[in-house]
Amino acid sequence: MTTSMLAIVALISGRGSNLQSIIDEMHADRLPIELRAVISNNPDAHGLVRAHAAGIATCVLDHRQFSSRVYYDQALMTAIDEHDPGLVILAGFMRILGRAFVEHYAGRLINIHPSLLPEFPGLDTHTRALQSGARQHGASVHFVAPEVDTGPIIIQATVPVYEDDSPEVLAARVLREEHRIYPQAIRWFAEGRLEIRDNCVLLDGAEQPEQELVHAKQLA
Ligand code: GAR
Repeated sequence: MTTSMLAIVALISGRGSNLQSIIDEMHADRLPIELRAVISNNPDAHGLVRAHAAGIATCVLDHRQFSSRVYYDQALMTAIDEHDPGLVILAGFMRILGRAFVEHYAGRLINIHPSLLPEFPGLDTHTRALQSGARQHGASVHFVAPEVDTGPIIIQATVPVYEDDSPEVLAARVLREEHRIYPQAIRWFAEGRLEIRDNCVLLDGAEQPEQELVHAKQLA
């Protein structure tokens, strides 16, 4: 491991398929990162099995053992900071994080969300996209701001929505894109190519027009 590797801590709650896509890219030497630890609020998260298999340190911090969100967030910060990360990634971490937590990691906390934000923040995004009649859906990677599923967007990917889609079929289509764009966003961060200015993300110093945000960045 060279000193130029970006130290990362990942937070998960479940399946861990996004975590796996990042591990796979790292093992293929396509991500200049050192994944120092995976922390889960759920002791049964399958992502913990994936982390073990990859030889990555794990830690379970069960939110049910804390009397308040503030205490939980404080314990989480302590567990994360032990690893001195340059970037903290939320990879299917299904807990709301308080303002103090988000501010502590300002500019080095990112999330992936299964919708084209600002459309459909929160849960059940695929069902809600289908119910809305949207013809396009997708996923977003963004810097985390205190309000849930908000913050400057780094990259988005769109997928078509077909009339006979079920939420499960649509979710699988979106997930394939998640596995592509999350490693891409992390690569840009690790290479020092991202900057937040006026609540927008610049890539190599340039702002992307909204439509091109999706398309141009898919090509990068
Ligand atoms: C992913 O679809 C991710 O975008 C979503 O949870 C899933 C986790 O899957 N995250 C959110 O909804 C956050 N608001 P994974 O555990 O297989 O990566």
